[in-house]
Parts: sequence; C-alpha cells; structure tokens
Amino acid sequence: MSTLLFIRDVARNPVRMGAIAPSGRQLARAIVAAAQVAPGDVVIELGGGSGSFTRELVARHPENPLTVFELSADLAAGLRREFPSVRVVAAPVEDFPKVAPSLGISRVDRIISGLPWALWGEARQAAVLDALTPYLAPTARLVTFHYLHSRSLGRVSITQRLLRERFARVTHSAPVWANMPPAYLNIAESPRGCGPLTPR
Ligand SMILES: C[S@@+](CC[C@H](N)C(=O)[O-])C[C@H]1O[C@@H](n2cnc3c(N)ncnc32)[C@H](O)[C@@H]1O
Repeated sequence: MSTLLFIRDVARNPVRMGAIAPSGRQLARAIVAAAQVAPGDVVIELGGGSGSFTRELVARHPENPLTVFELSADLAAGLRREFPSVRVVAAPVEDFPKVAPSLGISRVDRIISGLPWALWGEARQAAVLDALTPYLAPTARLVTFHYLHSRSLGRVSITQRLLRERFARVTHSAPVWANMPPAYLNIAESPRGCGPLTPR
C-alpha cells in the first residue's frame, strides 16, 4: 500500500520525493548496517517515505526508540499504520528543534536519511543539518545515500562539504549495485564540537 502512496506522491511532487521508486531491500540493509545502532541508541529517520528503511530498522533494532520524520501527510499516515510502535512525525525535519521537547528527545545517537539532498540547494541542505546537529551525541553517526548517477551534480559535492564542516569524519561506501538506481552511502561520524572520535 505504501508503495502505491509513494508512487502517487512522486507524481504529485517529484522534487520533494527525489526518487522514482522506494529504496530497495539491499540499500535498506546497507544503510541500517552502516548506522551501527547499539542498544539504547535514540534513532531518527529522515524522510521515511514508503518505509523501506523503517522496516529494516524495526526488524533489526526493535528495542531502540525510533522517530521518523515524513513531510507527506499521506505517507506519514501509511507509516503509522504499518509501524504502530514507531513514532511518526508528519513535519519537515527542519522543525526538529520545535518538536524535540514534546517528543522528549534531548540527544540523538543515529540518523538514517532517505532525503533527496541532490535536489536541494545549499541553504536547504544546511537548514536540515543545522536543525539536527545541536542534538547529536559525541558518538553520533549520520548515514545517508546518493544515487551514483547524481555524483556529477554539484549538489552532491555541497552535501559532502556540509557534512565535512559538521563532522570530523565522513566516508563513503562501495556502490550498492542491487538498488534501482544504484546508490552509495555517506557515513558521517564525530560531530564537530562534541569532542574526539570515541570508540564504541
Ligand atoms: C527518496 S524518498 C523516501 C526514501 C525511503 N527510504 C523510501 O524508500 O521510501 C524521500 C522522502 O523524503 C520526504 N521528505 C522530503 N523533504 C522532507 C523534509 N524536509 N522533511 C521530512 N521529509 C521529507 C519525501 O516526502 C519522501 O517521502
């Protein structure tokens, strides 16, 4: 059902969605594995969409508190129906500082992002990161993805620069060829201003 909602939202708002199809299982597995969620970690998912990453997170880490931000009210409702144990916020991630107190969140350990960074200019990308970074634990980790074909777009290099300005360590995975289209992960660790890299 959520896949149908996803495709309908793509037709209505292709720029907001930033994808022609939901992320595949292999990409979901790779992004959740790269997040290295530990027991007790507070996890935030950005742009839950049809729930590909949410499904994998709930399956692998059912005990971790998970909050998903999803801008589309229809997709947010679909996520709530499919994942009753997950807190779904139907709002832009940029609203995080406004809603964090009512969610009881003062620290974030893991961020998994499905947001369409490559479609956004610098101001919007920075606004999303700056809404979240003050809440990051020193050992926090943010994992996001870009499609391989979008590497030639200037906005991908903007994402990478903005991540490097905010995190001491930013690395990239090998391509996940099984996704359609193929994608790779950006893994950001050690938020700046939170002290040196702390081994888990
Ligand atoms: C590439 S799609 C979803 C990817 C997801 N992993 C999936 O497979 O369905 C990106 C999602 O981000 C949502 N989105 C876009 N901008 C957002 C924002 N500022 N805050 C929260 N969600 C946003 C869109 O509505 C869309 O559902």
